[in-house]
Amino acid sequence: MILFDTHAHLEGEEYAADRDGMIARARSAGVVHIVNVGFNLESSRRSVRLAEEYDLIYAAVGIHPHDAAEAGSGYLEELREMAAHPRVVALGEMGLDYYRDLSPRPVQQRVFREQLALARELELPFIIHDRDAHGDLMKILRENRPGPSGGVLHCYSGSWEMARECLALGLYLSFAGPVTYPNANRLKEVASRVPLDRLLIETDAPYLSPAPYRGKRNEPAYVVFTAEEIARLRGLKTEDLAKVCTENGRKLFRIA
Ligand code: NI
Repeated sequence: MILFDTHAHLEGEEYAADRDGMIARARSAGVVHIVNVGFNLESSRRSVRLAEEYDLIYAAVGIHPHDAAEAGSGYLEELREMAAHPRVVALGEMGLDYYRDLSPRPVQQRVFREQLALARELELPFIIHDRDAHGDLMKILRENRPGPSGGVLHCYSGSWEMARECLALGLYLSFAGPVTYPNANRLKEVASRVPLDRLLIETDAPYLSPAPYRGKRNEPAYVVFTAEEIARLRGLKTEDLAKVCTENGRKLFRIA
């Protein structure tokens, strides 16, 4: 099995006691790459350090909508500097979250637009977080059409109609643990219809554990459960689905 966990947050306290063990379990499960995703400047810096420490980890740097209000005037310059590091493969996560509304919506929108522009300038793919903000998110993406470096909607939770529009914009869609939940019918339908060459899988660890570990701490080794479920939905072997998703991730994040 060859797996790529395209979205995780492994720099935090959650793994302070067993980070090496967690990485070893990921390797044993077949995980060959992980993109560790920053959510503010500090976690982005830690993400880069983690990518220096572990050969299978790459970093993304960015400001999550929850943290948008705290991004000071120099944040874009700091992201630009961090993004020059050879282990940084994407900008993110960025986007809109109208479920928790931890930053005022106009600020979320501005910080999202600014990071999209930076991704285009630096020719890096972007990683989008979208929760209960589908309408405004698509409006901003239509106004700031993705460049050739593209991007991904992480932990996809929208409709098939929205998925089609994202696909038309050239974006990838990434699925996390929730697709394994028994009642996730709409999500399962979308995951079974996305063209195979636009499909990514992720854990979003330590959050969103797949069904067998629901409610417990997540980790990259569990990305296999998401691969298994999407393979089952599509009538494929898990190994084959995992391999295709790994190749897709390598292409998007330009990992040899
Ligand atoms: Ni995340």
